[in-house]
Amino acid sequence: MAKLIGCIGTSHIPAIGGAIHKGLQQNPYWKPFFDGFPPIRAWLGKVKPDVVVIFYNDHGLNFFLDKMPTFAVGAAPQYNTADEGWGIPVLPPFKGELDLSWQIINTLVEKEFDIVTCQEMLVDHACTLPLKLFWPEGECPVTVVPICINTVQFPLPKASRVYAMGKAVGEAIAAWDSDKTVAVIGSGGLSHQLDGERAGHINKVFDLQFMESLLTNPEWATQFSIHELVEKTGTQGVELLMWLAMRAALTPGQGAGVRKVHSNYHIPISNTATGLLALEKVD
Ligand SMILES: [Fe+2]
Repeated sequence: MAKLIGCIGTSHIPAIGGAIHKGLQQNPYWKPFFDGFPPIRAWLGKVKPDVVVIFYNDHGLNFFLDKMPTFAVGAAPQYNTADEGWGIPVLPPFKGELDLSWQIINTLVEKEFDIVTCQEMLVDHACTLPLKLFWPEGECPVTVVPICINTVQFPLPKASRVYAMGKAVGEAIAAWDSDKTVAVIGSGGLSHQLDGERAGHINKVFDLQFMESLLTNPEWATQFSIHELVEKTGTQGVELLMWLAMRAALTPGQGAGVRKVHSNYHIPISNTATGLLALEKVD
């Protein structure tokens, strides 16, 4: 059976793509953010996942406001990027992992999650930036299964529902008849609000408590309603749901625990609180 080795949560911000493109990693503004990644890359170089499942939210590149699935799972042989503005270069396609896609899709439908299955799907910065941050050099060495969670247009799925979906994805991975190793990525957040009266809202206390909860009490954030999460973290901070799904995917195994590989937290990049957390699964 496939082996689930761990998870990594990271913020995604369009400006990161521009900073990578311009080689600004050592620039004083960017350095505290990019300095978080070498320990994660060293760990990934050691555990060498074959496949990554990425929970992220699309920002209008593939799904626009007229058609917005709550949960959508990619089942494509490859995933293309496209010009989404902000100076982010269009990247070469990322290879899919079709067999795992269908394993996850079949499992989710069996467990009564009414998902959208996407045999063609453009992926935006929320999916591609983590891959470039974790594997900056050359062709991406992992295949991918993108899973999109709506955090753009209300109504949004409840935190408890997202957790349950992530757990089911973890069960699908654990039951996958393959000798491949799998890592899970959560791409989003942390606290930020881009518009309205509270534009610029950041909640460091909540962000750090949330990150700590993923290590010690992963269901902690499911106590909050979506409106409470928006109140605490900002309209776009609710993207932390991706981290919740990611962490839930690690929970199905009997006696499974996690150890922290590395974490980083920096305010601000653009007007966002950036978080980074890698957890390794230990049985
Ligand atoms: Fe986002």
